[in-house]
Amino acid sequence: MDRKSLMDALDWQIAQGADEAIGDEPQNHLHAKPAPKSAAPKTAAAPAAKSPAAAATSPVTTALANAAGTLDELREAIAGFDGLDVKLTATKMVFADGNPQARVMIVGEAPGSDEDRQGKPFVGVSGRLLDRMLAAINLDRSQVYITNVLNWRPPGNRKPTPAEVALSLPFLQRHIELVDPKLILLTGDSAAKAVTGSREGITRLRGHWQEIHLGNGKTYRVLPTFHPSFLLRSPGQKREAWRDFLSFADEVKRLG
Ligand code: URA
Repeated sequence: MDRKSLMDALDWQIAQGADEAIGDEPQNHLHAKPAPKSAAPKTAAAPAAKSPAAAATSPVTTALANAAGTLDELREAIAGFDGLDVKLTATKMVFADGNPQARVMIVGEAPGSDEDRQGKPFVGVSGRLLDRMLAAINLDRSQVYITNVLNWRPPGNRKPTPAEVALSLPFLQRHIELVDPKLILLTGDSAAKAVTGSREGITRLRGHWQEIHLGNGKTYRVLPTFHPSFLLRSPGQKREAWRDFLSFADEVKRLG
């Protein structure tokens, strides 16, 4: 086989979710793995690095995404892509909600069961909290545009895998380019890592504005914050999230 055929075959395997080499020992992936003993302790000043998920975007979905010239074409491209197994278990595709002309975009992780039933992002209990937080800074869904890293619900509401993120990220990046917002709020670890390319967790990333550069040559300002469903489980963190929302509101005001 030549190099290109080998790379295509590898891409295909990743698209099918086969993103790990098989070892000699069986592994139970349902149990958390202990941290490797030799892992270096994290230092507070560790610089942000590109995550493999963001770096390893799939050439297949990149080509599909970049061929979409409108949001409708992008929706069709995502709906027609069969390389993500979550599509097989989901009920409805969840593309977006809100105003496509909005200057503010919000990115979540993936649909949950309510979103899967209704085909709209953030319509369940965490969506209601998101709506209340937006209302507190004088925004509603007519003034924002909302989407997720993944457009299909992962079974059991599990976190998207790195392979799923690598396949979906080109669609999300094109989504951002087509909406062309002025400011982007990234809710939760998956969205923050995927969009910024950082390996840092959300606790380190939240509250810090960053700039991302996309394929259309434009730069977008993004603010990572906690995911509403995390805030429902850990209400003590709402104070930090509120700080982020106030910082976001300041920048929205500055847009005029
Ligand atoms: N959580 C998300 O990240 N997105 C949704 O659409 C719903 C819940």
